[in-house]
Amino acid sequence: MQADILVLPGDGIGPEVTAAAVQVLRAVAQRYGHVFRFEEKLIGGAAIDATGEPLPADTLAAAQRAHAVLLGAVGGPKWSDPKATVRPEQGLLAIRRALGLYANLRPVKPHPAALGASPIKPHLLTGVDLMVVRELTGGIYFGQKQRTADSASDLCEYSVAEIERVTRRACTLAQSRRGRVTSVDKANVLETSRLWREVVTRVVREEFPGIELEHQLVDSMAMHLLAKPREYDVIVTENMFGDILTDEASMLAGSLGLLPSASLGESTVGLYEPIHGSAPDIAGRGIANPYATILSAAMLLRHSLGLENEARCIEKAVDGALDNGVFTADLAPGGRGVGTQAATAAVLEQLELECQPVMMRD
Ligand code: NAD
Ligand code: IPM
Ligand code: MN
Repeated sequence: MQADILVLPGDGIGPEVTAAAVQVLRAVAQRYGHVFRFEEKLIGGAAIDATGEPLPADTLAAAQRAHAVLLGAVGGPKWSDPKATVRPEQGLLAIRRALGLYANLRPVKPHPAALGASPIKPHLLTGVDLMVVRELTGGIYFGQKQRTADSASDLCEYSVAEIERVTRRACTLAQSRRGRVTSVDKANVLETSRLWREVVTRVVREEFPGIELEHQLVDSMAMHLLAKPREYDVIVTENMFGDILTDEASMLAGSLGLLPSASLGESTVGLYEPIHGSAPDIAGRGIANPYATILSAAMLLRHSLGLENEARCIEKAVDGALDNGVFTADLAPGGRGVGTQAATAAVLEQLELECQPVMMRD
């Protein structure tokens, strides 16, 4: 098949990890006889430096033309002045919103070989396999912001339709998994959460009667996620709770550098990015963990291009690299790991070994 993939490296370690994922996508294309055309554009701080805007119009236009977007990360100290009116992060929020990507899928499945990298006891981690579905284009991130000399506010708003569509996405995913959905809110305090709970309950009752639904308050969820992570299948929650809970959940896997994500809307066009940020503390040193971005590329093949076999092939290759103990510094005991390029090379080697192209494809 032929596909146009827009690459948005962004800032900090973004260019390092997207370069790794592009190498893997190129290898997959070659192995399976696909033609992936890559185009690269600016976003975030790099775009502010070049154009004054975090999401230049030609970047958005390229995203709208592409079949899928692969993004690194945005932001960094250079653009973090609290007085700044233009910020890299605005570019990320704007592209998610402009492409209508309301559902952010963040799978968490600790790899047996990397359990030692997690601060959680190994017996709690075996068998953990959960998927957070984070609402991505609503809530407090997008409500009206106000600032006066001595106060500030951020409005948190959700419509019924916004809650319905993300609930449907979570339930559909749960149907192909273990059939359980945990909806996370703060309904004991927030009006938006009371609406959230009401809508989720109705959608599940009316449209997904086979789904086992439970509601959980976000504060205790933060605790249960570490105490009994095996219990969870699909977790659906609003934008900010999903952001926070998934950085927490990354510690089940052992590192932020292992968690991929897919941001999806109504069409197959999606945006794929690791859940981590631009990691300014390690940027430019060639030591960032590329696995989260490589696994995001696998999600791209699955959700935007319908290439399930190829997606699994990448996932198996990353599994193989981890099985062989190819750990970057964030995973290695004592922080003495291999660099980004060596980890990427290990994945490419596993691709050669493990992934058999399906013959007779059209
Ligand atoms: P961060 O995720 O960038 O880093 C947190 C810690 O995890 C750091 O110690 C970092 O070195 C480490 N880390 C992250 N990814 C890693 C990887 N692949 N390999 C090895 N170690 C890794 O979070 P932060 O420091 O709070 O934020 C830095 C900047 O990134 C901020 O400007 C923030 O807004 C931005 N950010 C962007 C995104 C995004 O573009 N999607 C996501 C989160 C944060
Ligand atoms: C993420 C990031 C972003 C978010 C920031 C950089 C806007 O933390 O993708 O998780 O909060 O969505
Ligand atoms: Mn985040």
